[in-house]
Amino acid sequence: MGGVVALTGATGFIGSAIARKLVKEGWRVRALIRAPLRRVRLEGISIQWVHGTLENIEHLDSLVGDADAVVHCAAAIRGITDADFYPANVEAVSRLAQIAALRSPAPRFLLISSLAAREPNLSAYAASKRMGEIALSQMAGGFAWTVLRPPAVYGPGDRALLPLFRLMGHGIAPLLGRNDARFSLLYVEDLAEAVIKWLVSESRERRVFELDDGHPRGYSWCQVAETFERLRGKPAFRFHVSELPMNVAAKLNQIAASLIGYAPMFTPGKVREIRHPDWVCDNSMFCQAANWTPRVCLEEGLRATLGFMASGVAGRQTLQDGRIRDRK
Ligand SMILES: NC(=O)c1ccc[n+]([C@@H]2O[C@H](COP(=O)([O-])OP(=O)(O)OC[C@H]3O[C@@H](n4cnc5c(N)ncnc54)[C@H](OP(=O)(O)O)[C@@H]3O)[C@@H](O)[C@H]2O)c1
Repeated sequence: MGGVVALTGATGFIGSAIARKLVKEGWRVRALIRAPLRRVRLEGISIQWVHGTLENIEHLDSLVGDADAVVHCAAAIRGITDADFYPANVEAVSRLAQIAALRSPAPRFLLISSLAAREPNLSAYAASKRMGEIALSQMAGGFAWTVLRPPAVYGPGDRALLPLFRLMGHGIAPLLGRNDARFSLLYVEDLAEAVIKWLVSESRERRVFELDDGHPRGYSWCQVAETFERLRGKPAFRFHVSELPMNVAAKLNQIAASLIGYAPMFTPGKVREIRHPDWVCDNSMFCQAANWTPRVCLEEGLRATLGFMASGVAGRQTLQDGRIRDRK
């Protein structure tokens, strides 16, 4: 096993989990970094850093080098308009795929897309992720590419879902979608394991795979609230939030972002994504193709993510690298 993996997005939430897992499993990781301070998540991990950005073709050329595989995880996940997402999520995919396709032999190419790409009309982010997938399939010439579409990913180090999960951990459970809405989830270590399984698999299928934690038909908002209640050992204050206040809050956040100059996560587009009724994955094709099995259920993943909150009832067990260990 082993070889060189060129990785983008290693300084982010998911990319850092992938980088740690790769190094642990004996792969040599060459990773793109645009701000030196951002390597803090991977302090002490043996990584060859390539300083640069997705916009610079020479930086990407150095990154790909003689790699056996390219794992492209970087993306813009915050923003408002197409222009905020297109350069990182579409143009950079083309650029990187073009560089990889010109190598001989060409490295295998894995794009971490998003389940959002299934519904490109919902938001500029979703549209950009779909267009990134299309860009890869069009640019990739004769080489082996795969697209993974994870649903919402959570775990230690996540910043997107953490505020909501913390609130639920404190017993306040806003139900942000319709009663009949269902969505899949995936623990970050299971996604990192999926990347390893893809690397060692013989699969050369050029296709898009969905993957999730395998919970049948995903979750409803009530089921997520119930999971928190089990972890806390007491009921939560549950309440439905309708679309209007969410849209008002998202619009205000968008205006504040434009005035102050930050890239917002919570926008009207994100509200449309959150309120979409069907984000359920079918992971059977990927499980079969890569011999991957998700190991972490929601309750276990939340214990690992919010360990200190769950120290009472749920404190009997802790998760390390996706394995459940009994605490003595
Ligand atoms: N989080 C989820 O729930 C979720 C669900 C489905 C799919 N995904 C996908 O998973 C991937 C990773 O998401 P994440 O949640 O880990 O996001 P994240 O924490 O924001 O990480 C994004 C990464 O991309 C890098 N990046 C962005 N623009 C760049 C540029 N122009 N040049 C170089 N690097 C750039 C960032 O670098 P800096 O550290 O320098 O900012 C960071 O390393 C994305 O493709 C996302 O679409 C995420």
